[in-house]
Amino acid sequence: MVMQPEPTTAAGPSQSLLALYPERERTALEGLYLCHDLRRCRRGGHPFVYSNFISSLDGRIAVAAPRRREPEIPPETANPRDWRLLLELAAPADALIVSGRYVRQLAEGSAQALPPLQGDVAPDILAFREALGLPAQPVLVVVSNSLDLPVEVLLRDGPRPVIVATSDAAAANSARQLSGEHAEVIRVGAERVEGAELVAALAKRALRLIYSIAGPAVLHMLLAAGVLRRLYLTTVLRVIGGEDYATMTRGARLVPPYDFRLAALYLDPRGGPDGSEQLLQVFEHNEEKPQK
Ligand SMILES: NC(=O)c1ccc[n+]([C@@H]2O[C@H](COP(=O)([O-])OP(=O)(O)OC[C@H]3O[C@@H](n4cnc5c(N)ncnc54)[C@H](OP(=O)(O)O)[C@@H]3O)[C@@H](O)[C@H]2O)c1
Repeated sequence: MVMQPEPTTAAGPSQSLLALYPERERTALEGLYLCHDLRRCRRGGHPFVYSNFISSLDGRIAVAAPRRREPEIPPETANPRDWRLLLELAAPADALIVSGRYVRQLAEGSAQALPPLQGDVAPDILAFREALGLPAQPVLVVVSNSLDLPVEVLLRDGPRPVIVATSDAAAANSARQLSGEHAEVIRVGAERVEGAELVAALAKRALRLIYSIAGPAVLHMLLAAGVLRRLYLTTVLRVIGGEDYATMTRGARLVPPYDFRLAALYLDPRGGPDGSEQLLQVFEHNEEKPQK
């Protein structure tokens, strides 16, 4: 069962990082991404969509555990310092995107916990969200076509707003049932959920800072629609192999490729599992190059 990672690294939370780009200096992990002031990125009130991944050096974001079909985030990469950064990215968000499969994995106890923004969380993260005057929890947006969703697992820590984003092709009776279970069901796409329609529907509901913590298919949906603005990537400098694995995205070839430029780069020496090194990278979508 994958839970919020326990502190297993040699590096405590306060060990400093080495910023390598754009400036070279020592800096602290705490506050690193809070300082990005993401709410100010919504230029002209436009939505700002961002995502993050943790990957091994050989590009695995998930690997099938022994005797399991579905890949999950491997313990060789998951670590509390990356988790802390994930919470910093969640702190200012209006909405968090997760996948239908994530909800099923959460219900069976094999998914990483939802980022908690109340209760036993670092006080500076709670204070940051509170100072922004935001509701305690971001809206959860579940992307799903199957609508096979045990949504009650999302509400087990208390009520929170849940939107299920699905397509016209999804079954009407499942949608009706979910609507009766405290979720709002929106149809944003004909056969599959389309990224542009989804983001427009969320913006209409005043949800403009949108953080995707979903996996390869959802990232592909966001890239194909040209709506992903920023990508945060932690690369743990370990090669872990495995035959049944996922990389950051999966779907039809992106033509033209989705281009990014490096916005920031940090070295976290000994911050990964077992004292491994990790690179913290921030990429901005290069909007000067036209996408399709
Ligand atoms: N290392 C990391 O940073 C990282 C980050 C995220 C995830 N992961 C791992 O990657 C694995 C897969 O994660 P994930 O399930 O979130 O991945 P995903 O590939 O993004 O999501 C797959 C599910 O999302 C729904 N979906 C995706 N795109 C859709 C679309 N356009 N329209 C309708 N439904 C769509 C489908 O749900 P339905 O089947 O309900 O239709 C599908 O089964 C997991 O093991 C997870 O732990 C790792």
